[in-house]
Amino acid sequence: MPKTTVRSPSNIAFIKYWGARDLKRVIPANPSLSMTLRNCFSRTTVEWLDEEGEHEIRWRAGGGGFETAPPAFAERVRRHLDRLRDWSKSGGRFRVATENSFPSAAGMASSASGFSALTLATLGALGREVSTAEQSVLARRSGSGSAARSVIGGYVEWPADESPSAEGVECYARQVASADHWDLRNVIAVVERGAKSTSSLDGHRRATTSPYWDTRQRRLPECLAAVREAIAGRDLERLGTVVEAEAIDLHCVAMTSEPPIFYWQPATLTVLAEVRAMRRDGVSAFSTMDAGANVHVICSPESENEVAARLSRLDLDLSLIHDGVGAGPVVENEHLF
Ligand code: DP6
Repeated sequence: MPKTTVRSPSNIAFIKYWGARDLKRVIPANPSLSMTLRNCFSRTTVEWLDEEGEHEIRWRAGGGGFETAPPAFAERVRRHLDRLRDWSKSGGRFRVATENSFPSAAGMASSASGFSALTLATLGALGREVSTAEQSVLARRSGSGSAARSVIGGYVEWPADESPSAEGVECYARQVASADHWDLRNVIAVVERGAKSTSSLDGHRRATTSPYWDTRQRRLPECLAAVREAIAGRDLERLGTVVEAEAIDLHCVAMTSEPPIFYWQPATLTVLAEVRAMRRDGVSAFSTMDAGANVHVICSPESENEVAARLSRLDLDLSLIHDGVGAGPVVENEHLF
């Protein structure tokens, strides 16, 4: 199968990966747990060519046609293609085209979906079938740890320990509940469309310089257990309370790192206040933010329209994306080239 196209969703972390034990090998300092999305995705076609030469990497940003990917992004993709080629001992080169259904690099885990799609499409192009655990490890090695979770649908935990799977791979994500188990929605308030100011990679590097690093680490086991239980029991109040507090913890660590990282914008705070106001009015909605200014509002299908209506009435320049839990990556028959 020399040409393969994969559509892989992004994910939103309930317990977040922030700080690494080994950044080079992408071994996180703490376990993380996320919900795989369905409408925010990357679509990537990879073709394997049995010849020497450079990889060709094109992307489509916005509504236009495909163009040569910008150097920093192309370099990350190229390194991952080399890594997968070395792993498969195959030689040759790759032709790649990729696009996102949502704004790239704005704290919306475009690298999670992008590197998940790239990993899976490259494996397909190489004709290599591997276990989900190994897919997760290979996606993780891209450098985007959150990609390790995006290869799997539903609710996904990525433990921080390195105990090997049956096939001997280490530090891989696994499903804790399927998408069918609980239909949760995520209304994303996009208040910033451009690239974020500081990469997650720099955030991971600086995280331990924060005086609140230890505090967050101490709180995490209890938060993780609560999130697991809330998912098992489909308890939105419990889930949301922990998820909102945990996101604030992460941003406290970021804001107090050396040098500090402020991902929030004034509009972020306006949205956070509105979500609290919704709860006072009896709408069960909870916010979380990744490494960016945008706010993911987690709610039930019954509250989704009310949440969106209230967010759109805010006096802000924002757009909304309606998303929700999804079943994970799919192989598509139509290719991008
Ligand atoms: C805040 O190192 O996976 O989203 O490569 O930019 O996707 P990217 O970041 P990565 O760190 C993710 C940081 C986070 C939390 C999370 O998704 O767990």
